[in-house]
Amino acid sequence: MKNRIVLSLFAFSAIAVLSMCNKATDEDKALFSRSATTEGFTWYKGNDAKLESTIPGAHHKYVRTRFNAIAQAALGSDGTLPVGASFPEGSLIVKESYDENDNFKIYAVMEKAPNNSAAGEGWLWAEYDADGKAVHSISKSNSGCINCHNDSGNRDFVMFFDRFP
Ligand code: HEC
Repeated sequence: MKNRIVLSLFAFSAIAVLSMCNKATDEDKALFSRSATTEGFTWYKGNDAKLESTIPGAHHKYVRTRFNAIAQAALGSDGTLPVGASFPEGSLIVKESYDENDNFKIYAVMEKAPNNSAAGEGWLWAEYDADGKAVHSISKSNSGCINCHNDSGNRDFVMFFDRFP
């Protein structure tokens, strides 16, 4: 009897853990498909040119960033977020990274979703490769992302405006 209880408790927690993983995977899949398309996005300052990253690495030499319509609507006429303003829920910002040979590497993604339990500072943080594999799942700790994105000059945790004025 005792064994059966232990066994079913074990099975129950295994199922709980598995379904948590699936939730993360499903949300990652959905976020990837919203991010991998350029449709409905506007490139930063209307320009899709690749810029030299200010945090260069071999896989991260060039970057370009785009904003979905909700995020874009929060930007001023100069294409930047006014100092002190913040992005509304549903804002989606995608940074494409390219290596030194101009090969696409990853999508780095921030989506404003303050009610999502995986959010940090109001944003979901994720990175996906071209096939949608989560290099950094939204369910992973986002403290590494945030530690950098709260550097001086950030506007609502977005770095681009100050780095590429
Ligand atoms: C070492 C510091 C650092 C870390 C760690 C970091 N970022 Fe960034 N991120 C930057 C900088 C700086 C930029 C501006 C573009 C550039 O220079 O590459 C940026 C740009 C971005 C952008 C475009 C919008 C913006 O803020 O400019 C997104 C999206 C993004 N990062 C997502 C992430 C995610 C997701 C993580 C964690 C998985 C992460 N970043 C970790 C420094 C960092």
